[in-house]
Amino acid sequence: MSIVVTAATGHLGNLVIDELLQRVPADQVVAVARNAEKAAPIADRGVEVRIADYNDPAALAKAFGAGDTVLLISGLEPNRLDQHKSIIAIAKDAGVARIAYTGALGGPEADFDLAADHRATEQAILDSGLPYTFLRNGWYNEVYTDQIAVQLEHGVVGSAGDGRIGSAARRDYAAAAAVVLAGDGHEKKAYELNGDVAWTLTEYAAELARQSGKNVAYNNVPAETHLQILIGAGVPETFAPILVDVDAAIARGRLAGRGSDLSRLIGRPTTPIADSIAAALTD
Ligand SMILES: NC(=O)c1ccc[n+]([C@@H]2O[C@H](COP(=O)([O-])OP(=O)(O)OC[C@H]3O[C@@H](n4cnc5c(N)ncnc54)[C@H](OP(=O)(O)O)[C@@H]3O)[C@@H](O)[C@H]2O)c1
Repeated sequence: MSIVVTAATGHLGNLVIDELLQRVPADQVVAVARNAEKAAPIADRGVEVRIADYNDPAALAKAFGAGDTVLLISGLEPNRLDQHKSIIAIAKDAGVARIAYTGALGGPEADFDLAADHRATEQAILDSGLPYTFLRNGWYNEVYTDQIAVQLEHGVVGSAGDGRIGSAARRDYAAAAAVVLAGDGHEKKAYELNGDVAWTLTEYAAELARQSGKNVAYNNVPAETHLQILIGAGVPETFAPILVDVDAAIARGRLAGRGSDLSRLIGRPTTPIADSIAAALTD
């Protein structure tokens, strides 16, 4: 009986492994990854690595065992819903004890395009009858701070208006996942995970300007202009409308937050956006 983490070599997966190793012995943790070379540092920490691509049911069938607790980290590829459904069926066949899933803030009420696969995945888990825990993650601070070099040059551009963003650091979400995987009492629970303090893009730009000493402002543009800017910056034409739709959801308050599940689970305040800006500026 192990705690099995899929997509373990991603940013979130690596942090979940790290947080788990602070709570349970390494021989209770299994990392599922598609790339053995990328997973080598995880294996070096004493964690068993099982190689399986989300598109490879035969390999996935060997990745899960009866009684395991599985964290399914949502994928990124266009067919991710089919991948998730296949993984859920395989986990069920393997007799796993519980599946946790990283979905989107709001769960079935998340009415933006990016959340559609998450809504459908949660439903597939419910339909499977597997014991579950839903980790409905809000935005990562890093979604914004990873763009700091561009923001310092061109300003912060979006179409989210004065909508508030209740983001938290990836590590905060990873810590919550580890708590839920390693602990009891999380069966049939859906956690709405977001930062303690929500902020607007105007406030974000002002904080970035303050910390960097540079002249940075938020330029709120119409949705169509935002779309053209994203495409011009190289965002794929299929994905750019999804990002513009996210900003519309932010403007409607959908990413502002739904309470304090995250800080309660991790037993500390979430990481303020200002701290993530500071960390990104010193990188
Ligand atoms: N809440 C948010 O703000 C936010 C932002 C971005 C993404 N997300 C979602 O949260 C997930 C985790 O975020 P992240 O920051 O860790 O993303 P990430 O660093 O891009 O990691 C994605 C992981 O998915 C794995 N993966 C993708 N396709 C796969 C496949 N076919 N088979 C096996 N593994 C596959 C990747 O494997 P490799 O390591 O081999 O590439 C990687 O480990 C994302 O996948 C996405 O669904 C949430």
